[in-house]
Amino acid sequence: TRVALIGAPTDIGAGHRGASMGPEALRVAGIVQALRARGLDVFDTGNIGGPLNPWLPPVDGYRHLDEVVAWNRATMDAVGAALASDRLPILLGGDHSLGLGSITAVARHCRQNGRTLRVLWLDAHADFNTSELTPSGNVHGMPVACLFGIGPRALTHLSGEAPMLLPDQIRQIGVRSVDEGERRLVREVGLDIYDMRYIDEIGIRQVMTQALYGVDEDTHLHVSFDVDFLDPAIAPGVGTTVSGGPNYREAQLVMEMIADSGRLGSLDIVELNPAFDLHNKTAQLAVDLVESLFGKSTLMR
Ligand code: ARG
Ligand code: MN
Ligand code: MN
Ligand code: MN
Repeated sequence: TRVALIGAPTDIGAGHRGASMGPEALRVAGIVQALRARGLDVFDTGNIGGPLNPWLPPVDGYRHLDEVVAWNRATMDAVGAALASDRLPILLGGDHSLGLGSITAVARHCRQNGRTLRVLWLDAHADFNTSELTPSGNVHGMPVACLFGIGPRALTHLSGEAPMLLPDQIRQIGVRSVDEGERRLVREVGLDIYDMRYIDEIGIRQVMTQALYGVDEDTHLHVSFDVDFLDPAIAPGVGTTVSGGPNYREAQLVMEMIADSGRLGSLDIVELNPAFDLHNKTAQLAVDLVESLFGKSTLMR
């Protein structure tokens, strides 16, 4: 497999500064070497650019909307270019608002190539807010709604068409924080959410079996890995920690089962915030998990 790393150093959609340091933290933690050790052909394309974070309060329910649009356009273009050159894109975020640009490019690619898209959204949050529902105005809480065509036109129609995603194409795993208005919308749309209670009840293996059900040789799997998916005890280096997340062993099994499907086609690693971290340990954990995502296992080399 040929992969392309795309750095997107921004915290434009977040409520804390520092996710802009995510790409470099992942490189420092050895993501290039780890992927090469898996036998992959790795091309680090460097970082895309965009406006600096003006750090202003929300306007009409959105913080930095114009800047978020600019970063998402650049993300969509870079991810689209990687896919067009037959490389598996790995987006090094950056905050999770960029999931919109990344998945927009992936969805368009799948449409053009007749592939079925399945998105696995690993996250403590549903990221399904709108400008009316959001408690914060932070756009990193809205990308899934935007992908469904719910949101400002500049974001929903990033590629010119909308919606980019239908509810039956996404599975959200690890969710344990949903805002009040957001909860109503989630139920209305019928999002498939595997929340922490469900994981506790049936176990992570059964959850992943269900989340991957129906994936076949025509499926392109996109993994959008918000690092706050992980329990803060093992992954403190994020801006929006929520306790009660998957532990190390559960997270490993998630990645291993995705690898076993053999259908991984694109990946986002987002919300990593070294400003909250100690000795870059959260980035190191992310790299450790990415190795499993690309097939590393204890007994098989
Ligand atoms: N639901 C909260 C909000 O809308 C938090 C969203 C956190 N999202 C994230 N990608 N970390 O502000
Ligand atoms: Mn998120
Ligand atoms: Mn999150
Ligand atoms: Mn693989």
